Amino acid sequence: MVSSLPTDRAPALSVRNLTTVFQTREGVVRAVDNLSFDVYPGECVGIVGESGSGKSVASLSIMGLIGYPGRVDQGQVEFGGRDLLLLNDKQMRSIRGTQIGIIFQDPLTALNPLFTVGRQMTDVVRAHRKVSKSDAAALAVEKLRLVGVSAPESRLSAYPWELSGGLRQRVAIAMALLLDPQLIIADEPTTALDVSIQAQIIELLRSLKDQLNFSLIFVSHDLGVIRSIADRVIVMYAGHTLETSQVDALFQQPNHPYTAALLGSAPTLASDPNQPLPAIEGRLPSLNNVPKGCVFAPRCHFSTERCVSERPLLQTAGQDGRQVACFYPLGAPVNEGVGR
Ligand SMILES: Nc1ncnc2c1ncn2[C@@H]1O[C@H](COP(=O)(O)OP(=O)(O)OP(=O)(O)O)[C@@H](O)[C@H]1O
Ligand SMILES: [Mg+2]
Repeated sequence: MVSSLPTDRAPALSVRNLTTVFQTREGVVRAVDNLSFDVYPGECVGIVGESGSGKSVASLSIMGLIGYPGRVDQGQVEFGGRDLLLLNDKQMRSIRGTQIGIIFQDPLTALNPLFTVGRQMTDVVRAHRKVSKSDAAALAVEKLRLVGVSAPESRLSAYPWELSGGLRQRVAIAMALLLDPQLIIADEPTTALDVSIQAQIIELLRSLKDQLNFSLIFVSHDLGVIRSIADRVIVMYAGHTLETSQVDALFQQPNHPYTAALLGSAPTLASDPNQPLPAIEGRLPSLNNVPKGCVFAPRCHFSTERCVSERPLLQTAGQDGRQVACFYPLGAPVNEGVGR
């Protein structure tokens, strides 16, 4: 994918044709189908889509965390000169601990309730670096301070459940940053938090990214959240990529009718918080029964016979390497010359 961002440098991560399947009672389903994207150093790529669109499966696949009944069926995940999909569990564990940091929706996924914050952080450091306990604790304090935890020394003896939700997520971010990873993957890191805390955590991640220059993959079902942090965005639907774009351009002119519908249901500053958001009519298709043509066709106001019978491929549309999988994009015509 081409970007107006730092394309003169090599991407930190290149995902190509990533396809992840699950064995279900009804047969094999494709939860992520042919996903390709790059993330450049210091860049934030957002992945957005409704619940069940494949965002988490995509992130877990990149991190080598897909287990039975799922498996990565094909693709490459190039990172640090290697294809992560070819590494064994031990090699992958070592990369996850050091070069790729992970932040989940629920910080308790990353934090063990039985151990203090200090113990967990020093264990992570000492699992990957030959340092003394006191040096590991000093590093933990440094990272806690970096993420805005006040009186970090005194937090080392706290148990995760003693901390508020926002503080717990800060600790989880400090854990992810412990060994200075080049890439952070954050899967709905603010979804479980109050709105005001959400904004603080997003601001924190943004300033850490700028300060430390790591690459960030930020997963959210909320385009408003994506807008506040991502440089580029990938719109996913039923495992498929429907649109990729710089975030600002996407908000100015969505190319895919699904993106337009998502924007219509995304809260804006002008939205009345007491009114329910307009929902997109219909539901995501079951992965056991994905439409033959465009996956969004059954819910699309603009769908034609062609959309129902033929699958539109992801193609360049407009400037800066924007892509869309639609025969009749709303904005710039695709390179076939087909437009609205
Ligand atoms: N363990 C599993 N077994 C079978 N199918 C699965 C499994 N995990 C995920 N899937 C399939 O993959 C699809 C995508 O799941 P995923 O968790 O990636 O969605 P998501 O976009 O992260 O949604 P959410 O916003 O709710 O987190 C699911 O709808 C489901 O069909
Ligand atoms: Mg998810």
